[in-house]
Amino acid sequence: MAKVDKVSRKGIVLAGGSGTRLHPLTVSVSKQLLPVYDKPMIYYPLSNLMLAGIDEILIITAPDQQDLFRNLLGDGSQYGIHLDYAVQENPDGVPQAFVIGADFIGDDPVTLILGDNIFYGQGLVQQLRRAVTSNHGATIFAYVVTDPERYGVVTFDDEGTPIAIAEKPRRPRSDYAVTGMYFFDNDVVEIARNLTPSKRGETEIIDVIRSYMKRGDLSVERMGRGIAWLDVGTHDALAEAAAYIQAVDHRQGFKIACIEEIAWRQQWISDEQLLCLSENYGNSPYGAYLAGLMESRL
Ligand code: DAU
Repeated sequence: MAKVDKVSRKGIVLAGGSGTRLHPLTVSVSKQLLPVYDKPMIYYPLSNLMLAGIDEILIITAPDQQDLFRNLLGDGSQYGIHLDYAVQENPDGVPQAFVIGADFIGDDPVTLILGDNIFYGQGLVQQLRRAVTSNHGATIFAYVVTDPERYGVVTFDDEGTPIAIAEKPRRPRSDYAVTGMYFFDNDVVEIARNLTPSKRGETEIIDVIRSYMKRGDLSVERMGRGIAWLDVGTHDALAEAAAYIQAVDHRQGFKIACIEEIAWRQQWISDEQLLCLSENYGNSPYGAYLAGLMESRL
């Protein structure tokens, strides 16, 4: 893979929340640290930001969990990236990420990804790279699902222009769910600061998106059938995601969301650094996979 240039855009992984839907799995550990087959869940959203070319990333966690994330990922230098950490005291809404991260974001555009969202498949990297090149307005991704009432839902007119957006509508007007990955210009910080909580007592990401839609600055990219989008919020979804990742891994021998491999292929770390990472994993198959990458050169 050719060298991938890093972009002037910040990334945030929102990995807080109380995870009550996954109790007792999440009584003492964050959902986003749970295993999805062979790696912690946060590897998946992190890999997507890296594939987009984003190397300055803020990880927002629940107050008592930050050390666990730090122990896992450190300052990111071993992956050729820079990781910062911040705490969300209470899960008062997804848009709080922009308020908590305001200093980190500075004057840059920002991409937010929810820590329990997994994206993988044909054409994904191209879609991500397109989205990072636009520093004006908002880009979100829509994905056809069988249960849109569980998500933010976007409706299009006949020309494919987004005309309405709603959070978990009882009667969805389309099958297009809004995925948990959002590309915004810098205005998002001010927009997030001025939101009022919804009836469920949280500020809503849908309200942020709606304000971009109203000013004609919203682009909705549809993700096709070749891409898998998994939102790993229930016990079944967790088991299904693990089975999916395992099946691809066994069939092709390629790992999904292997952040060490991505850093190396994008030429953000050297052969020596990759070797060092592989040795840190002792005699695990994951470590052996990393060591084998340099020999296979596929
Ligand atoms: O997954 C996509 C969906 O994510 C979108 O379609 C919805 O529009 C969006 O609101 C969101 O819906 P969820 O029902 O999945 O949101 P939930 O409250 O479960 O939060 C999503 C993740 O973000 C979850 O892993 C916990 C974390 N979170 C959430 C909130 C509200 C935080 O870390 N802090 C928070 O304050």
